[in-house]
Amino acid sequence: MPEICIRPARPSDREPLARLFHALWPENPAEHYAEEITPTLAGTPVSSLPTIILVAESADTTLVGFLEVALRSHADGCDVRHPVGYLEGWYLIASHRGRGLGKQLLAAAENWARAQGCTEMASDAWIDNDLSHRVHERLGFEVVDRCVHYRKSL
Ligand SMILES: CC(C)(COP(=O)(O)OP(=O)(O)OC[C@H]1O[C@@H](n2cnc3c(N)ncnc32)[C@H](O)[C@@H]1OP(=O)(O)O)[C@@H](O)C(=O)NCCC(=O)NCCS
Repeated sequence: MPEICIRPARPSDREPLARLFHALWPENPAEHYAEEITPTLAGTPVSSLPTIILVAESADTTLVGFLEVALRSHADGCDVRHPVGYLEGWYLIASHRGRGLGKQLLAAAENWARAQGCTEMASDAWIDNDLSHRVHERLGFEVVDRCVHYRKSL
C-alpha cells in the first residue's frame, strides 16, 4: 500500500473530512459536519474539554480516514478519578480497511490522550456493528456494558 501519513486535521481538511464524517454518519449531510468540525479544526472546540481529529492521508493528499478523540470527564467502566480519551468517531474508506491504518490512528489518539493526562481510553459501538466490536477487542478494549437508550417527551 502507498505510504499513508497520520496527522492532526487542519482547517484546509474541512470539506473532504466532512465527507468522511457523512460516510460514517449518513443521517446528516456533509455540510452539517463541515459546520460542526470548524471550531475543532481551528483549535477552539465548542466543548470546554479538548478534542482532536486525526486523519490518514495518502501520498496524493486524499484523506482516507479519520479518528476523532475527545477528553471526557468520565466514561462507563472507567476510573472516575481521571478523565478518559473517548473515541467519538473512527472511519476508514472501505478500500483502506484491514491494513493497520485504524490501529495507527488509534495509537496516535492514545498518545494524544496520554499527553492530556489520561490513563484509559473508552469508546462505544452500535450493538450490530460486529466489525467494530472485533476491531475494538483486537486492539485491547474490553466490553464494560451494553445498554438501551430511552427518551420521553415532557
Ligand atoms: C473500525 C475501522 C476504523 C478499523 O480500521 P482498520 O484499518 O480496518 O483496522 P486495522 O486494519 O488497523 O485492524 C485493527 C485490528 O483489528 C483487526 N481487524 C481488522 N479488521 C477485522 C475484521 N474484519 N475482522 C476481525 N478483525 C479485524 C486487525 O487484525 C487488527 O488486529 P491485530 O493488530 O491484532 O492484527 C474500520 O474497519 C472502519 O472504518 N469500519 C467502518 C466504520 C466503523 O464501524 N467504525 C467504528 C465505529 S464504532
